[in-house]
Amino acid sequence: MARLQLDKGNKVLVTGAGAGNDLPYLARSLGGQGEIFAQDIAQQMLLAGVERHQADLAHSDLELHFSVSDATNLPFQDGYFDAAYHFGGINLFPDIRKGIAEMNRVVRPGGKVVIGDEGLAPWLSDTEFGKMLIRNNPLYACKVPLGLLPESAKSVRLSWELSNCFYVIEFSVADQPLHINIDVPHLGMRGGSIRTRYFGQLEGVDPTLRDHIYAEAERLGLSRVECIESLLRRGLPAVDAEKNAK
Ligand SMILES: C[S@@+](CC[C@H](N)C(=O)[O-])C[C@H]1O[C@@H](n2cnc3c(N)ncnc32)[C@H](O)[C@@H]1O
Repeated sequence: MARLQLDKGNKVLVTGAGAGNDLPYLARSLGGQGEIFAQDIAQQMLLAGVERHQADLAHSDLELHFSVSDATNLPFQDGYFDAAYHFGGINLFPDIRKGIAEMNRVVRPGGKVVIGDEGLAPWLSDTEFGKMLIRNNPLYACKVPLGLLPESAKSVRLSWELSNCFYVIEFSVADQPLHINIDVPHLGMRGGSIRTRYFGQLEGVDPTLRDHIYAEAERLGLSRVECIESLLRRGLPAVDAEKNAK
């Protein structure tokens, strides 16, 4: 709960809230003020949550809402929440990437998303400890869905808790893709920039010619990219003229 960095009065979403095990802890983290939205696809689970917690929370300044909906298609506006939390169901979501993307979408920029589920720490999967647990419950073999985080996720942290059997991912929501200046020139033998190295790839050429150009670049004190670009700029009119002459 501490990872959500909640303040009094915040709005927090719990996806796959089930019967509401986490609601009292969230209520405490909010200092008894704010809004909790408990979301689950299974109405029966949420009804159990209503029965267990609504009366307790009725005496506080906290608003408790329940939403029967799909965590991979949430019925909330962009940036509506200060934080979103999920524990214990995402491994079996049909679209885990979408489940994470939706939490990211409905949390305001700067807010926190925290996600945990079964998944042994990788160094345990081949140990007897790990094999016993996986035999007991195959979900412990689930891998951490780190590759499914949104491109803009910031300050990502990963830990394993509960005897290293559950992963917990936390990240901050950003409102734009990560910034990087792809035009900063590289100093050194290769030269170029992130842009030219990625978007400026040429076809394969005769390797002997390539090595000759590299050697000439070194002799002239140019980077390889400077030398090749200079050759291409000067050489293209000659190729054109040659073609027209034919
Ligand atoms: C193992 S329970 C965990 C409940 C609760 N988070 C807890 O820790 O006690 C997993 C929950 O995820 C819910 N769930 C599964 N798929 C879902 C989906 N697509 N959208 C929302 N909830 C989903 C299930 O209905 C179930 O209540």
